[in-house]
Amino acid sequence: MHIDLKGRTALVTGSTQGIGAAIATGLARSGARVAVNGRSTGRVRRSAAAIEHEVPGADVVPVAADVTTEAGAEQVAEALGRRVDILVNNLGVFGSADPLEITDDEWRRYFEVNVLAAVRLTRLFLPGMTERGWGRVQYLASDSAIVTPAEMIHYGMSKTALLAVSRGFAKQAAGTGVTVNSVVAGPTHTGGVEDFVHELVGRDLPWDEAQRAFMREHRPQSLLRRLIEPEEIANMVVYLSSDQASATTGGALRVDGGYVDSILP
Ligand SMILES: NC(=O)c1ccc[n+]([C@@H]2O[C@H](COP(=O)([O-])OP(=O)(O)OC[C@H]3O[C@@H](n4cnc5c(N)ncnc54)[C@H](OP(=O)(O)O)[C@@H]3O)[C@@H](O)[C@H]2O)c1
Repeated sequence: MHIDLKGRTALVTGSTQGIGAAIATGLARSGARVAVNGRSTGRVRRSAAAIEHEVPGADVVPVAADVTTEAGAEQVAEALGRRVDILVNNLGVFGSADPLEITDDEWRRYFEVNVLAAVRLTRLFLPGMTERGWGRVQYLASDSAIVTPAEMIHYGMSKTALLAVSRGFAKQAAGTGVTVNSVVAGPTHTGGVEDFVHELVGRDLPWDEAQRAFMREHRPQSLLRRLIEPEEIANMVVYLSSDQASATTGGALRVDGGYVDSILP
């Protein structure tokens, strides 16, 4: 299957590192013009330069803006001439906390960053996509959307909400040529994860053994028995962004290494 995204403009929120950076790179490799986003100009520029290095000839637009605010969302829209064909709502914060200790402000923060920011960007860009008769909107959900962790209820809530948001906007876009989906990512090898893993299973194990021990002891539900690489999540997002995925909409696609013990979704 040859995926060609030439002529499409993609926005990947929170793409200076981790899964977002892998998605931006994957979309650029398939020929899309890609907006890389984060809060600081320096990090956004460095991430854009890394993609240009990895994908010679890539068309990358660095957009530094806090997309969790109305002003930030507007800034992104202006920087892209108000046109986005592929919107990947990747930005998300996570952390564990005693459920009885999570304050109202923290609940609101999780809703605003993980859910409302994505809704706002969808509102900004979906009408243009439907007018043009082609578009792709995606939300990065998580296994925690389906299996609520007791120590991350606030995070789980925000990811479950994204599944509803995604399904609802898919109905809104019905019959227009625009597809809307969620990607349910499982435990992924990003940022501080190596440190976290070594902390739990011991510092002296080589990485490969350490992650296998971590999965065996702390994530036994995983059928993959290793962490997922960001590129493996990105592959699904790139596919969903393609013409080839035209009949997949209103869905929640799992790239969770079989972590969620369910035949569906
Ligand atoms: N990692 C996992 O195991 C895992 C599993 C399932 C689902 N997910 C989901 O996948 C998505 C990406 O996760 P990740 O682990 O790759 O994230 P991450 O490494 O924590 O990266 C977060 C990104 O968001 C940017 N960012 C943070 N606040 C921002 C704001 N207000 N405006 C714009 N950009 C902002 C950061 O850039 P700056 O710091 O440069 O601003 C960074 O590029 C999240 O939605 C997460 O819930 C992750």
